[in-house]
This record gives sequence, C-alpha cells and structure tokens, in this order.
Amino acid sequence: MENDAGNSTGKGDSKKEHTRDELVRILHGFRDAPISGEELGERLGVSRAAVNSHINQLREMGYVIDAATKTGYRLAAVPDRLLPVELKVRLDGLGAAGTCIGCDIQYFPQLESTNDTAKAIAPDARDGTVVICEVQTKGRGRLGRAWMSPEGGIWLSVVLKPKIAPQDAAKLTLMAGVAVADTMREFEIPAEIKWPNDILVKGKKVCGILTEMSSEADVMEYAVLGIGIDANVDTQKFPLEARESATSMQAELGHMVDRLEFTAKLLVRLGEEYARFEKAFVDGDIRAFDAMLDEWRSLSDTIGRVVTIQMRTKTISGEAVGIDHDGALIVETDGGIEKVFAGDCVYTR
Ligand code: BTN
Repeated sequence: MENDAGNSTGKGDSKKEHTRDELVRILHGFRDAPISGEELGERLGVSRAAVNSHINQLREMGYVIDAATKTGYRLAAVPDRLLPVELKVRLDGLGAAGTCIGCDIQYFPQLESTNDTAKAIAPDARDGTVVICEVQTKGRGRLGRAWMSPEGGIWLSVVLKPKIAPQDAAKLTLMAGVAVADTMREFEIPAEIKWPNDILVKGKKVCGILTEMSSEADVMEYAVLGIGIDANVDTQKFPLEARESATSMQAELGHMVDRLEFTAKLLVRLGEEYARFEKAFVDGDIRAFDAMLDEWRSLSDTIGRVVTIQMRTKTISGEAVGIDHDGALIVETDGGIEKVFAGDCVYTR
C-alpha cells in the first residue's frame, strides 16, 4: 500500500503518477455522483491520506474537485492542458482502443520543437507515439521557416513506422491533411486543404504540417508527422503581416474550442487514415489509398486553381487539375502536364 503521496524519486514517482492517473480515470467515471475517499483508497490500493495528497496535487495542477464530508469527491473541471491521461480518457470514450496513434503520449509543458523531440526518441519509440506540448520555443515550419507556437495552440508530432519505401512518405502528409480537415469539419469549421499541407479556412491558414523522415537504403526507418494547429491562439498576437493570411479555430468559431476533445478526435481520425495507409502500402491493397485520395480531392482548395509552384530546380505555372495515384499534384501548364511531388505553392488566380 502506498502511504505517502509526497515527493520521491525514481520508481516511486512513476508509481505515484500511475496512481494519480488512475485516480483521474475513476473521478471521470463518477462525474455525476461523488465517490468517497474510502472507496477511492480501496480501488487504488492506497491509504486515505494518500488519496488526500493525490487530490491536492491534482488541484495544484488545475483540476477542480469538489469535496463534501458526507458524500466524497466529485470532478468538476479539468485543466486546459493536453495531459496524456485526459487524452486517453477521451480516446477510450471514442472507442479508439484499437488504433495505435496515441498508444504512447509524451507530454511537455514546453519544448523547442515537438518534431525535434519526436525525432530524438523515434528509433526506440512505438509506432504511433505522440509528442505534444503547450508551447514551442523553436517551432519549425516548412522550408526552414519559424513556426509561432504560443499557448492555446495544439503542437504535436506523431512517430510513424510503416514498412514503406521512402518515396511513399509524402503521402503521409496528404493523409494528415485529410484527418485534420475532417476533424475541423466535425467542429463546424469549413476547413480545406491547400496542396501539399496547409489547412485553410476561408482562404486563411489555420494549420501547417511538417513531415520529416529517416530512411536506410530503400526502407523508411520512421517518419515524424508534425502538426501545428492555431486552436485557441489569439490572432491579435499574430505578426501584422500574418493577420491577413492566418486565422485560428477560436477566431473562426467565435468561441474557444475544447482542445482535449479536438486532439482526441484528431488522433482517432489519424488512426483511421493510417490504417488505410498501411492497408495500401504495407499490405498492397492500393484501393484503400484511392478512397483516401477521393477524400483529399473533395477537401481540396487547390484543384481548379491557377498556381505557381516553386520546386527545387524550377518553377512552373498552370492550372491544378488533380492529384494522381502517387500523391502528385497534376498541373496543366502551357508546355503540357506536369506532376509535382513537392514544392511551394502560390495561388495566382
Ligand atoms: C508549415 O506549414 O510550414 C508547417 C508547420 C508545422 C508546425 C508543426 S507544430 C508541431 C511540429 N513541431 C514543429 O517544430 N513543427 C511542427
């Protein structure tokens, strides 16, 4: 039996964290009716004093837990933090036990970049491990750009380890775009995808995706899918030049979003798309990818636009007419059809 919920180190700490997470799970199950300290102690296998001490720690973390002498404890509110236990409670509630995305969630109040941390742990991490934080101090965007990542956003990276060829990795970005746009639509936000990896709302960017990978010979070792969402970010704090081109979910909805609920739904959606991806590129049932591409097309803001795409060695202009089986954007230029796998896309009309 655990007698003391105060500070300790090493194994004891992780045992206490486990007990505290269990306590949170139980409290979630008793939101409608209080549960006594005695019953909590019995269920957790700890003393009443230890229950008390854990409850106090949770309160310090921002949990609101009502307590009445005769009836016991009742969870009234949870902190606005993307805590793994809170995400897992929601993932379980969504019936997501079967998906590997979020099987391991590593949370940090602050990181330089979730992509950097994810890459550092990737070799030993499980497929589907999520690294998530509240604030990034060196968030990175595509093409070496900085990515502003203040409080209120959702900054996360997913480590993926499908056994695929490196050239199939770009399709993971398309997959993530579909998952994010779809989840936003569930929240009544009319999100669209700008090729290859921006999520827009009424023409303004609300999310960016940065996929990085490591490969050996002709097999991908791992990919890190970095997703940055301006959820409850105050757009007034955006740099002046970004206010025209960027928005946040809060600004679009006129109220704050429940980041925990959104993140859990996003992880479930990613899990569904990832299952399709593996079916197509690991099991060889390519029709599974066709279904994903159809969804991408229906969410696309790019198809039908006149675009200029800057690639590493050349720039092309023309009408974006579709996306092909390999995930390449098909552009009809004056010189004929071009298939583009990567580049910076600007709408010219
Ligand atoms: C872009 O549109 O340029 C991509 C932006 C990607 C930002 C996310 S936030 C989480 C992850 N960590 C990073 O440093 N970058 C990605």
